[in-house]
Amino acid sequence: MESWLRPYPTQPVWMNMMPDSPFDLSHLQAAFGERLQTNVPMARYTSARVGGPADALLVANTANDLAGILQHLWQMNVRYWVLGGGSNVLVSDKGLRGVVVINRARQVRFNGATTPPSVWAESGANFGALARQAASRGLSGLEWAAGIPGTLGGAVVGNAGAFGGDIAGNLLLAEILHPNGHENWPVERLDYAYRTSILKRQPGQRVVLSATLALQHSTPEAVQARVNEFTEQRHKTQPPGASMGSMFKNPPGDAAGRLIDACGLKGTQVGAAQISPLHGNFFINHGQATAADVYSLISLARSQVAEKFGVTLELEVELLGLWEGSN
Ligand code: EPU
Repeated sequence: MESWLRPYPTQPVWMNMMPDSPFDLSHLQAAFGERLQTNVPMARYTSARVGGPADALLVANTANDLAGILQHLWQMNVRYWVLGGGSNVLVSDKGLRGVVVINRARQVRFNGATTPPSVWAESGANFGALARQAASRGLSGLEWAAGIPGTLGGAVVGNAGAFGGDIAGNLLLAEILHPNGHENWPVERLDYAYRTSILKRQPGQRVVLSATLALQHSTPEAVQARVNEFTEQRHKTQPPGASMGSMFKNPPGDAAGRLIDACGLKGTQVGAAQISPLHGNFFINHGQATAADVYSLISLARSQVAEKFGVTLELEVELLGLWEGSN
């Protein structure tokens, strides 16, 4: 076993880990026909452009389609991952033994007549684009989200946030699908905390189909001015390029980026992966980085921060797939 690749025992996603057993595709092929793609490199579907092949992949184009696919997969008892923008995950080089469902359910409906005004969107809607649409309608509340990569569904699960705002502060309802039907969950039921929710803490047979967010009336000029302010700040402090956003959660009272910086690790490169010279909590893929390259930077940052500051950095990014063994 490559010990440096050993996963953290605290990552709930490791509950997903199973032996690297061969995967029987015939039932899936019978159920989904030509829609089912096989042996698909996940680097194509992740914002870091990293990740080995998934056994199979399906694209869901509407929330109904997503629900139909999930019901099938649950009935077949097949391992699956639902990905939106793939912006908060690191997929192992060995890939994923199961089915990846790419969520492209993107309908969006603004409702200025409700109290408060609101927006309903399917979970595959691009979250940053949604925030920019709200700005152009003079609806305030999502300015913080204008530069956030990924989808609404991912944001709802991970309680995405920036510049003092987060999903927990906006969510009215999330429509959750489970094997026995679907329900509208009010925000309290998501049990939000910093960058986490009950859906993230207890991964299981539940998927976000859509969500309704609260907004406030304002003017396009005022909302756009806030969006521009945040965008400018983001450009100054966060690097462009293929990455997963913040790699680690901020530890209480401090910032992961500051700690990694203070260890002198900015600019450190392994293969084509680099800790950004601009921000210590952003890890950039300069081209052909492997997940193992990224993972060794993760290990390096964690061990040096622990040694120098006695702080254990917790991943914000989810590690998916198989990381142990040799096949
Ligand atoms: N800092 C350093 N060196 C660095 C980077 C940061 O000293 O290399 C210092 C900064 O000077 C600042 C502090 O660390 O005093 C915090 O840095 P920054 O303002 O850049 O914010 P952050 O805590 O690193 C958080 C979120 C981001 C979000 C920004 C803006 C987390 C883990 N990250 O970053 O969210 O965009 O605030 O609000 O909470 C994400 O979650 O993926 C994400 C990008």
